[in-house]
Amino acid sequence: MSRIDALIEDMTLAEKLGQLTMTAAGHTVTGPVIAGDSVDAIQAGTVGNLLNLIGADHVHAMQRLAVERSRLHIPVLFALDVTHGHRTLFPVSLAEASLFDPQAWALTAREAAREAAADGIAMTFAPMLDVARDPRWGRSVEGPGESPWVGARMAEAKVRGIQGDALGAADSLAAVAKHYCAYGAVTAGREYASVDLSERTLREVHLPPFEAAVRAGVAAIMPAFTALGGIPMTAHQGLIAGWLRKRLGFEGVVVSDYNAIAELIEHGVAADAAEAAALALRAGVDIDMMAGCYRNGLPVALSRGLVSLAEIDRAVHRVLTLKERLGLFDDPYRRGSSPESVATLARRRQIAREVAARAIVMLTNGARALPLGAAARTLALIGPLADASAEMRGPWWAAAGPEGHVTVLEGLRAALPGSEIRHAPGVAIEGGERGGIAPAVELCEGADAVILCLGEAAVMSGEAASRAHLDLPGEQRALAEAVLQRAHARGTPSIGVLFSGRPLVVPWLAERADALLAAWFLGSEAGHAVADVLTGRISPSGRTAVSWPRATGQIPIFHGERPTGRPADPANHYTSKYLDVPNEPLFPFGHGLTYGSFTLSALSVSPQTLRPGGVLAVRVEVANEGDRAAEETVFLFIHAQPASVSRPTLELKGVAKVRLQPGERGAVGFELPAEGLGCLGADLEPVLEPGEVEILVGPCAERRRLLRASIRVAQ
Ligand code: GLC
Repeated sequence: MSRIDALIEDMTLAEKLGQLTMTAAGHTVTGPVIAGDSVDAIQAGTVGNLLNLIGADHVHAMQRLAVERSRLHIPVLFALDVTHGHRTLFPVSLAEASLFDPQAWALTAREAAREAAADGIAMTFAPMLDVARDPRWGRSVEGPGESPWVGARMAEAKVRGIQGDALGAADSLAAVAKHYCAYGAVTAGREYASVDLSERTLREVHLPPFEAAVRAGVAAIMPAFTALGGIPMTAHQGLIAGWLRKRLGFEGVVVSDYNAIAELIEHGVAADAAEAAALALRAGVDIDMMAGCYRNGLPVALSRGLVSLAEIDRAVHRVLTLKERLGLFDDPYRRGSSPESVATLARRRQIAREVAARAIVMLTNGARALPLGAAARTLALIGPLADASAEMRGPWWAAAGPEGHVTVLEGLRAALPGSEIRHAPGVAIEGGERGGIAPAVELCEGADAVILCLGEAAVMSGEAASRAHLDLPGEQRALAEAVLQRAHARGTPSIGVLFSGRPLVVPWLAERADALLAAWFLGSEAGHAVADVLTGRISPSGRTAVSWPRATGQIPIFHGERPTGRPADPANHYTSKYLDVPNEPLFPFGHGLTYGSFTLSALSVSPQTLRPGGVLAVRVEVANEGDRAAEETVFLFIHAQPASVSRPTLELKGVAKVRLQPGERGAVGFELPAEGLGCLGADLEPVLEPGEVEILVGPCAERRRLLRASIRVAQ
């Protein structure tokens, strides 16, 4: 008999339910309640998992209570939301998605896992894989953007990085893919609202990242708070017990979201904690985070015959198996026993700086306002995000305090020690105070360039942070317009730097500023990264992983919508368009400028006829006709029409990069298996259909900028 089977045989019901319970230690409140009995319960073995405890000393102290004092000495699993760094923060996920670089995604995940494990953490609630096409929803910031293909690649990379080569290693964590699923499609972009979408959209858009995570060996999955088609995900038999466990063969742990099991009562599918607990357990949820429904409700559910002891034992077995795989039984203090060296921390900060610079998306650069020339000796740095260390963290800052994150002011002063850098916030991020605008405008007098640092507060995106208006908050627009008016009157170059957890609707700023950067929330090295790009030490290479609306009314807006029977035609009133804005986004998926000037040519595809099992080779030449070295990102899309179902007008199938010196020519290639051209047929089963497939290659999801070729798929 295995160690786990023997344990289960020996466990009381209270001890079993303890292993199915996760409570919060209260260090970082990420939900509405904090458990009060954690210490006693751990000693009694009636709580087996804890979140939000920070610091190896605290973790080890709690661990000793379980391992040395409880009856069965079962180690505690310590978890935390290490989503884009632990104490050293990397760019938020939506910013990192702009790199389109799985190696970088895995690297930052590996570094974050190492740092969290050094603090005794053994599980992180990451990666967040919710595809989101509605920037009103605050949690877009935590995810991979609008593309399921990017979501799947990020899932693979993040699971690899978080879990390392061996889950039991001292610097590996259990990854938790979340929030399963389609949370990003909440009604009206409103947080926690219900989700209603077609089975096809579910299967084509929202499930692929989770399938990729499972195939990558993710240790755990967290269902979303939301209801999908009237069934709360926390009680979704079809998608957890069915698709996840039965169809995909997922044998890991399913951990509920914070208090989500109790919220089945609010969802209207359970009358009390016992029914809620039974629904969740039978759907396949193993750990109850913070609701207390398993501890208190399952005994009643058992007595009512709503669940069986065998179902409880199955969940306990999965939880104990995860703890065994993490090495917690062999050495409960393995994580947190070896502090990291100063050199390791310094190298990690350097990685954070490099990744942050690559996450910046240069949206516009009129009159080549950037990079700042050597003559830029006097700079006016204006705006509430110019010297805001805590804001650079973005939401979900884990163990990172508010200080120590490099601001733009600090970064520019370090990069340009010989320059005069004048600074004024002008206005606050929010609020109606305008008194600081006039003095800020005066700072621009005689400046060689004006840099406006504008945007959202860190907590204006992330959980419980939906916004209905996506312009700049507070009086920032008034500040920007006054500063830009003075800059234009004096012929002073003006640069906007936007800090946000989502695309903002700022067509007026894109129009009036000479250059505009999307800096998202870049983490601990934000200021150095922004300075590296502004001064030209680094050429911007980021490409937006979400479309930027020109009007909130366009939302949801994303690349690759399905076709319409009446495609937009300005000459024909009765076609798919608005009366008041163009259909196109302000900036399309994949958009991003560099300090180079790239042209693509000579697209070649072979074979012309592709058969099942074959591989399509795609190649395109790239030339840098600019005067600075830069990295170009090239996207491979397909469009298959006609087909048995109406397929998206663009489907992303690959991304390639090439760095070229001024005047240098190069090429990028893709290899696409024939099956990658397939789709879900009318019966929602994968199919590769004969017929024409258009191959489109280019710098972003703007059809008119894509090189095209056609091939045939033959049976
Ligand atoms: C939160 C979030 C989830 C997070 C969990 C634990 O409410 O929905 O993403 O992992 O609680 O903090």
